[in-house]
Amino acid sequence: MTEEKKLSGPDFARGVSVTEFRDGGMLLGHAKGEPILVARYGNTFFAIGASCTHYGAPLVEGLLVDDTVRCPWHHACFSLRTGEALRAPALDSVSSWKVETSGGKLFVLEKHPEKKAPAKSARTPENIVIVGGGAASNAAAEMLRREGFSGGVTVISADEAVPYDRPNLSKDFLAGGAKEEWIPLRSLDFYREREIDLLLNTQVAAIDPAQKKVILADGDGRKFDALLLATGAEPVRLKVPGADLPHVCYLRSLSDCRAIIGKAAGAKRVVLVGASFIAMEAAASLIQRKLQVHVVAPEAVPMEKTLGSQVGEYLRALHVRNGVVFHLQQSVASVDQRKVTLKDGQSIEADLVVVGIGVKPLTDLAERAGIKTDNGVSVNEYLETSVPQIFASGDIARWPDPLTGDNIRVEHWVVAERQGQAAARNMLGRRQRFDTVPFFWTTQYDFTLNYVGHAEKWDKLEMEGSLEAHNCQLSFKRGGKTLAVATVGRDRESLEHELTMERAV
Ligand SMILES: Cc1cc2nc3c(=O)[nH]c(=O)nc-3n(C[C@H](O)[C@H](O)[C@H](O)COP(=O)(O)OP(=O)(O)OC[C@H]3O[C@@H](n4cnc5c(N)ncnc54)[C@H](O)[C@@H]3O)c2cc1C
Ligand code: FES
Repeated sequence: MTEEKKLSGPDFARGVSVTEFRDGGMLLGHAKGEPILVARYGNTFFAIGASCTHYGAPLVEGLLVDDTVRCPWHHACFSLRTGEALRAPALDSVSSWKVETSGGKLFVLEKHPEKKAPAKSARTPENIVIVGGGAASNAAAEMLRREGFSGGVTVISADEAVPYDRPNLSKDFLAGGAKEEWIPLRSLDFYREREIDLLLNTQVAAIDPAQKKVILADGDGRKFDALLLATGAEPVRLKVPGADLPHVCYLRSLSDCRAIIGKAAGAKRVVLVGASFIAMEAAASLIQRKLQVHVVAPEAVPMEKTLGSQVGEYLRALHVRNGVVFHLQQSVASVDQRKVTLKDGQSIEADLVVVGIGVKPLTDLAERAGIKTDNGVSVNEYLETSVPQIFASGDIARWPDPLTGDNIRVEHWVVAERQGQAAARNMLGRRQRFDTVPFFWTTQYDFTLNYVGHAEKWDKLEMEGSLEAHNCQLSFKRGGKTLAVATVGRDRESLEHELTMERAV
């Protein structure tokens, strides 16, 4: 997304009194036509670009943690000293500026030159192969080069498209509000320039850990010294008569999304099967395409299992206000060209059906290679599997959560990217523990919820504030311990809870 250069606040080039800044304070202003954030850490002042490089959030609304600033929207983190994007989902640095204080005033001078590529490290391991072309894979490949790795990096992806912004596929892109050129994370040139060998449309058929080789579907092989498995997840299929008809769609890949958009253009009524995050986000987006939207799902309250009944009820009502018709505590018996028939005999006209009944991790390659799995690929705190030099990240990885001691697997974009980055460093022998607090967000209409931590089960759910006012916090507790916090309209609080959980481990 492009950074809009709207200017507000003081002109730092002309100087601002240092008394404007308390320790740990931030101020938005500008210099030389660019929006700039000035922050004070102790007696040191820093100036960096003011907008997050992920979706352009105002960093001044974020949280200062030592000499870093965290983004209010999806929790990326930037160094105040260099502007470097220290944590995904931001992948690019913000600019960093020289500052000077004189006569009680602070002045922002010129931009620091862009950080040079790090000195190339030894070629050990010599060849790294990454299986998958999504969030974790892309973040890992980039990080290998950012860390100065000069050996071979091969990314093998079954997808036909370069790695892209998957969360957008159920949101703005599906709704028609995001241009297709915003969707790729990087251009083909980006990979070429970094000598990342990106093989698209290429399926890995097997892994031979003894020979340290992956075997492609066409029989070709690729040797590796270290391997990252990042195959993600695939949608659970609907198994009823008619489920294989061409107007029954799933939403995982860009091509899936393009197919839905194409079919939606000629459709009047869509039935969404399932009330998962993806199905509910898709409902909100397809309403914006002026389709009549019906949701069929077995639960009584959408998303209750993850977010509790209050949020679930609120979201159901929000969708109803926007025109969605729910058929809850129902399931699909069959589909034909013109309608969906429910188990109770009721039928709903439909010329498009989108199924969102969950996903399952693609662990088949790992299982056949003798790598330990447990509804996911089991990894240790360094994201290494049971086979040395084979790592796993993203939706497939089940890792030890330091907060609870449980082995957990989540399906979150930011976690997948951060795991890819951590695995990349660990393939280079850095021994970086993965102890990031999980984070995800969902957006439906003008409602955005941020969630930090992980609570599969809880014995107490405390809510404070108002969902209607988009200003509230929900704490998911077990045995008196806060496992997760969801917030609406309270971005700084979400960052503060993330920090508290980080510091608790
Ligand atoms: C529509 C949609 C909306 C979402 N919205 C959000 C959101 O708002 N917030 C959030 O936190 N999360 C969201 N998610 C979840 C998030 O996108 C995933 O958690 C994340 O993409 C997982 O990253 P990954 O790298 O593990 O897998 P993926 O991004 O799925 O990438 C896996 C890759 O592996 C490839 N692959 C699989 N098998 C093979 C093989 N045998 N050989 C070669 N390549 C293979 C696939 O083609 C794909 O390129 C959303 C997901 C979807 C589908
Ligand atoms: S806009 Fe900053 S992390 Fe998304």
